[in-house]
Amino acid sequence: MFIDSYNRKVDYLRLSVTKQCNFRCQYCMPDTPEDFADDEQIPFEQLLIFVQVAIDGGVRKIRITGGEPLLRKDLCDFIAAIMRYAPQIDLALTTNGFYLQSYAQKLRAAGLSRVNVSLDSLHEERIEIMSKKRVLGKILCGIDAAIAAGLRVKLNMVPIVGVNADELCDMLDFARQKKVMLRYIEFMENTHARALQGLNEREILQALRSRFTFEFVEQSGPARIYALPCGTLFGIIAPHNDDFCVSCNRVRLSAEGLIVPCLYHEDAVNVREILRAGDKEAIRESIEQALRQKPEKNRWGCESASSTRAFYKTGG
Ligand code: 5AD
Ligand code: SF4
Repeated sequence: MFIDSYNRKVDYLRLSVTKQCNFRCQYCMPDTPEDFADDEQIPFEQLLIFVQVAIDGGVRKIRITGGEPLLRKDLCDFIAAIMRYAPQIDLALTTNGFYLQSYAQKLRAAGLSRVNVSLDSLHEERIEIMSKKRVLGKILCGIDAAIAAGLRVKLNMVPIVGVNADELCDMLDFARQKKVMLRYIEFMENTHARALQGLNEREILQALRSRFTFEFVEQSGPARIYALPCGTLFGIIAPHNDDFCVSCNRVRLSAEGLIVPCLYHEDAVNVREILRAGDKEAIRESIEQALRQKPEKNRWGCESASSTRAFYKTGG
């Protein structure tokens, strides 16, 4: 079992399989050139060995992230290989939804059960402002295809003042109609993003009260879950809150082969060469080394804190 120096059990791996993306979201990589080379992609055979070591060490939940993971050919085969190795694993994917319509059935057939789709607005022009692409139709078709394929879908929305902050209620109505869970995510300031102003949990709840009544249900991982009287659930992920890190069970592998113990901090352990050699013992030691470096908490709650991490490499 992986335990960090603050006695937190780490059983959740987030795996970024590419830093490339076909969107340029304001909060993520607005100024990265469209054609930047992702020549460092780690072959899936190597990633599979890493995943096997993580599972053998007690990881029970894996999320595949990017960049945009569906840009990688053979992702479905990789998912199928993970499921063959550990049929009980809780495996999920985070995607921008653009390719989901073509892949939903194949992902389900490969054994994937859950998918989180980024959807920041229900207005085409706002999606274009947010992601620099006119892609609302594609994303909505992707969401429908995922639901039809039997995937459990969650939606991620990052509320930004002046862009989509007046759409919180409409988005919840949309999620309720689709019978999927919406999670509002506080914008995490980072040096690769635009200087945006996000809404915090208190502001999100206040905006929702203009149309809905709801009750707090539970803390589930990083999300606080609330329920409408009809039973519809929604979540708020608030990394600026003081207690956000207390129960952190996450470790990340970046697209560049760094084991990243915290999304906020710079510390990381480079395993590129170790992955190339496929040495399972060395991989396990590297994960343990990274977890010894895992800090107690992020700094987003601090005055004017901003991370230097690029979320498109580490998977937000
Ligand atoms: N702040 C909050 N969430 C972010 N994401 C990416 N960058 C940020 C950021 N700066 C999240 C979004 C997106 C997912 C891929 O990662 O929720 O949907
Ligand atoms: Fe791409 Fe996701 Fe980053 Fe948007 S947030 S640019 S969809 S990786």
